[in-house]
Amino acid sequence: MKFILIGFMGAGKTSIGKALANKLKLKMIEMDDLILKKSGRKSIEELFSKDGERQFREWEIEVAKDLQDRNNLIISTGGGVVMNRIILDYLRSNGKTIFLKTSFFEIEKRLKNDSSRPLFKDKNKARKLFSFRQSLYKEYADLIVFTDGKSVKKITYEIISKN
Ligand code: S3P
Repeated sequence: MKFILIGFMGAGKTSIGKALANKLKLKMIEMDDLILKKSGRKSIEELFSKDGERQFREWEIEVAKDLQDRNNLIISTGGGVVMNRIILDYLRSNGKTIFLKTSFFEIEKRLKNDSSRPLFKDKNKARKLFSFRQSLYKEYADLIVFTDGKSVKKITYEIISKN
């Protein structure tokens, strides 16, 4: 069994991933953590400012490749994994992709006090990125779960009951 959680920044991939892993007794992997390990940087912010987004995307592809044969796993992706087709090709092999669909309005609320996401600093750019990526998330999704106004528990239950 393998679930790949996709969706924009602030959609809840990490929280839902942890809850799912807990319920299903599976290991959860956070792609951003593996990328940080590869880079030797302490934070995504530091990585973006010192190495740049292009390098981040290269490491993101490498991490996806490293994960391709892994099973019995919940993978929490970064919001930008849909920007390189190869990433989901690697991740999806014998796994189910779940799109956590959240409105931009709700994401803005959730990330109001967050300064850890370089691509959310400029709201207008983030909004454009959000719109651009929606159809990509949808295209890759085996299941779409709406998260606005729902608790982690409810979303986790919804995912489990639909699988
Ligand atoms: C990114 C999302 C982030 C992180 C990086 C780039 C993106 O992950 O991978 O800042 O391009 O949307 P989260 O979706 O976990 O915030």
